[in-house]
Amino acid sequence: MSEQDIKQKIDQLSEELESHNYSYYVLSQPTISDYEFDMKLKELMELEAKYPQFAHDNSPTKRVGGDITKNFQTVMHDYPMLSLSNSYSKDEIVDFITRTEKLIEGKCVFVCELKYDGVAIGIKYRNGQFYQAVTRGDGQKGDDVSANVKTIRAVPLTLKPGDFPESFEIRGEIVLPKSKFEILNEEMRAKGEMTYANPRNTASGTLKLQDSSIVAKRGLDSFLYGIYSPTKMAQGHYESVLKAGSWGFKSPDPKKKMIAQCNTIDEIMDFINYWDLERAHLDFDIDGIVIKVDDYNQQEQLGYTAKSPRWAIAYKFKAEQAVTQLNKVTFQVGRTGAITPVANLEPVQLAGTTVKRASLHNADIIEKLDVRESDYVFVEKGGEIIPKIVGVDLGQRSPDSVPFEYAKVCPECGTKLIRREGEAQHYCPNETGCKPQIIGRIQHFISRRAMDIEGLGEETIVQLYNEGLIQSLVDLYRLEEGQLLPLERMAKKSVDNLLKGVEDSKKQPFERVLFALGIRYVGETVAKKLAKYFKSIDAIQQATLEQIEDVPEIGPVIALSVHEYLNNPIHQEQLNQLKEFGLQMEIHEDEKSSNSLNGYTFVISGVFENHSRDEIKALIEANGGKNVGSISGKTNYVVAGEGMGPSKRAKAEKLEIPIISESDLLEMIDQQ
Ligand code: IVH
Repeated sequence: MSEQDIKQKIDQLSEELESHNYSYYVLSQPTISDYEFDMKLKELMELEAKYPQFAHDNSPTKRVGGDITKNFQTVMHDYPMLSLSNSYSKDEIVDFITRTEKLIEGKCVFVCELKYDGVAIGIKYRNGQFYQAVTRGDGQKGDDVSANVKTIRAVPLTLKPGDFPESFEIRGEIVLPKSKFEILNEEMRAKGEMTYANPRNTASGTLKLQDSSIVAKRGLDSFLYGIYSPTKMAQGHYESVLKAGSWGFKSPDPKKKMIAQCNTIDEIMDFINYWDLERAHLDFDIDGIVIKVDDYNQQEQLGYTAKSPRWAIAYKFKAEQAVTQLNKVTFQVGRTGAITPVANLEPVQLAGTTVKRASLHNADIIEKLDVRESDYVFVEKGGEIIPKIVGVDLGQRSPDSVPFEYAKVCPECGTKLIRREGEAQHYCPNETGCKPQIIGRIQHFISRRAMDIEGLGEETIVQLYNEGLIQSLVDLYRLEEGQLLPLERMAKKSVDNLLKGVEDSKKQPFERVLFALGIRYVGETVAKKLAKYFKSIDAIQQATLEQIEDVPEIGPVIALSVHEYLNNPIHQEQLNQLKEFGLQMEIHEDEKSSNSLNGYTFVISGVFENHSRDEIKALIEANGGKNVGSISGKTNYVVAGEGMGPSKRAKAEKLEIPIISESDLLEMIDQQ
């Protein structure tokens, strides 16, 4: 065969296999036998191995995996990945419709679709080719899991000819079918290994596996629920979802009632009631129905809150219940010393998974339910990973059962537990000597939303603690190459990464440091408010309890927690040492407030030369401006750095929004 013939053969086999794949996995209508398919695939693999110069990046052979991803690259989303607000009753949906139509000042058509219970994914296409798949991450940035997503047969690698935009993104959900989940767990049981908890978590774990050939074998599936493109290709959501179906995506089928346009609340409720019963027959989990305003113009008009679109709402199905025996109550110790009682149950099937443990929350709940060991209990699964106990079947209670006695000492370190007046939780006060508290605190400190220390993960923290290298947050900054290199799984490269990550964390802004400390009740929002109000750790430390309570939206419970934390000599010493290591304990001079950006809305995109993205955002906010995640008619400026997404740029240009640089922004602030 001439080279020309070989290239042609590779092209033809690729196209043919992708088309069979589509028939099988998207349409569920196989066109050839599995054997014939495997033979053709084998032929293509052999040709590609011999003539790699002709192999396509998106060849159907990628579906069997083989690519290994050591570190998933972090990628900024072109459009933030938000969540949905939830509703649980017809009344709440009626409220949503009324609220929406009032804002629109007119009628809306709504689209109902399934709320797939899996992992969100954004898949970008360029010129009809799969380009990149990114996980939700923190909503602003996620991990590039392209090699793994390419193995999912329902995800097209090359689109069918059609009027798709040159560059666009498909948002959808990756799920592990229930049948595949069962097979996987049977294999685990056969090997005597731990089984997986539920399909959603397994899908999430599978997507982050380093070896894509294992991912390929697990049998993930994917459903689309949104199309994001700088150019509008349809009037509304319904039309564009169906259009995407014609390009080769597995889009919900109206004939199977997987999607419907609804004009009235009754039509919406019919859809909900239908799926509340029918969902048991699906081979994947759904946890509700999503109701969306169909028309794109109306969607734009409605816009977004900080967390979710105003044009959509999720209706969550009522949780399923099961009855089982409570074998034993054990206690877990959290990073703040909070004790959580856990019910260890006789394994029971609930909503398609085996449940062995349930949370009992605190002593009050145990007392209120009067749960006793050996009781038969009602277990319910809501949105949480851990199910909860909602009642006791008193009819089955043994006559010699005795009320449950709550733990008096910490199960980990034996210290006497304390419980403050008015608080439901018991605490172990042994902050500096109780292992799960120390480890949990350091794990929180390094986490993505806190100090975001790259090169350090939760497992490594456990390892470093067990090796006696870290006992406190401060010890992280004392780590040295010589101590780390001899440890297991620590190659030179990982040690370099770890130390660089630790060093880089010294630049994290003050508000993050404040959050990372893990002060009880101080989440990201409270940390931001405190940082903005007091501007330095010294100022918060010097503040009286009343002065902390003066901060808008900070109540007495949070204020007391902050005040006590900062007045504890152990913490004061730790803060002094962190300060000496160079951590940011105040807001920078140039971040101090002005009103120069008052009334302006910014979208930031890309990576900047002199500031981190968070620093840029903090600067905008400190000077009165507002940050939003996606470009709309209401955006005043787009601050562009290196690697700004092309679709974002196109959108900004289309809407004639000025695209400015980092230094332009600084100038705008300086001029005042
Ligand atoms: S639309 C702006 N539609 O639910 C958010 N989401 O709680 C637009 N999900 O993270 C989301 N099925 O991963 C949408 N039919 C559906 C969905 C769906 C499942 C997930 C999605 C999102 C979460 C929101």
